[in-house]
Amino acid sequence: MFTNEEISKFQHIPTPFYYYDLALLKKTLDIVIKESVQFNFKVHYALKANANTEMLKIISAYGIGADCVSGNEIIKAIECGFVKHDIVFAGVGKSDKEINTGIDQGIFCFNCESMAELEIINEQAAVKNKIVDIALRINPNINAKTHHYITTGLEENKFGINVWELEDVLMLLKSLKNINLIGLHFHIGSQITDMSVFKGLCIRINEIQQWFSEHKILVQHINVGGGLGVNYEQPDNNLLADFETYFRIFNDFLELFPGQKVHFELGRSIIAQSGTLISRVLYIKKGITTNFAIIDAGMTDLIRPALYHAFHKVENITTDSSEVRRYDVVGPICESSDCFAKALNLPITKRGDLIAIRTTGAYGETMASQYNLKDLAKAVYSL
Ligand code: LLP
Repeated sequence: MFTNEEISKFQHIPTPFYYYDLALLKKTLDIVIKESVQFNFKVHYALKANANTEMLKIISAYGIGADCVSGNEIIKAIECGFVKHDIVFAGVGKSDKEINTGIDQGIFCFNCESMAELEIINEQAAVKNKIVDIALRINPNINAKTHHYITTGLEENKFGINVWELEDVLMLLKSLKNINLIGLHFHIGSQITDMSVFKGLCIRINEIQQWFSEHKILVQHINVGGGLGVNYEQPDNNLLADFETYFRIFNDFLELFPGQKVHFELGRSIIAQSGTLISRVLYIKKGITTNFAIIDAGMTDLIRPALYHAFHKVENITTDSSEVRRYDVVGPICESSDCFAKALNLPITKRGDLIAIRTTGAYGETMASQYNLKDLAKAVYSL
């Protein structure tokens, strides 16, 4: 994965740090554009996956829109070159301040998640004497077959408006004069690797569209959210997600009415493989049945393993040993869950070795914290 030149460069950089492969990011974006533009699909990048300034500038230069979930993400997206009118704003709990940011910036669309929210957006828009475009985030009640913390399309989730509420929503919309319904929005979860789930989503959207057409409503925009998964187990064999199959499924199975435009909100699949968390071994400690490799990166830098039991490939990139030992690779934080790998076979590992934690470009840096008052890991970019 890394050249000798890169590894010798790493030796001089304070660890831990996120290393971003900009060439891979650009290659990924080239494919995203190629595979989506052929169907006239519009992709919005989900900033929550990685809001690093350098990465955002590269992504926005591809003419991709932005998917934001806070007022600060909206501001950051604009600062980094995303076009205001290509920004969608989702989230179950938009504050009044954030709603006002969206209105003032003239974003493309608010993805609304409840009737209560519709009323507040209408109220805020009325104060400014504006009419705001909105999409209804509908909960399609589809199982994304992924980790239950990142499944969002089931009725019991807090996200979206349930189908059985739609009659009431339409009634309400008639009375709200400062909002304008332009789209339907769906997002069923993240790290979805079973492509048949997306086909199921298309079929469900077709049914829901049928319902709207029976109610004489035709929206111009269908936003199908994000969720395309990446390969955490074998990143080197799958540095690029299967965008070709993904977009083709929507082209083949989504039944559109004339003039409708399809939008996507992709985060992880655009950025995950471009990032690696590089850390240094501080100590090797003998346990009863295992050895602990204690590294200087912790759950404060990358919380996914502790929070979701997520797997990330862990590699020793500097050892010259051909002998293998079994290690628990753990961080320095005062929590037992601060563990990146259990019973992992690694070449004999010693203090000072560099450890690469792979596929950490998405939901790595953005989810970092300063628990234990640890420093935040810096970002380093490939040339
Ligand atoms: N659109 C909406 C409305 C979302 O909630 C999300 C992610 C996305 C788009 C982007 O999904 P993606 O293409 O990245 O799968 N922290 C978790 C993932 C949380 C995802 C939240 N929503 C993780 O580390 O796995």
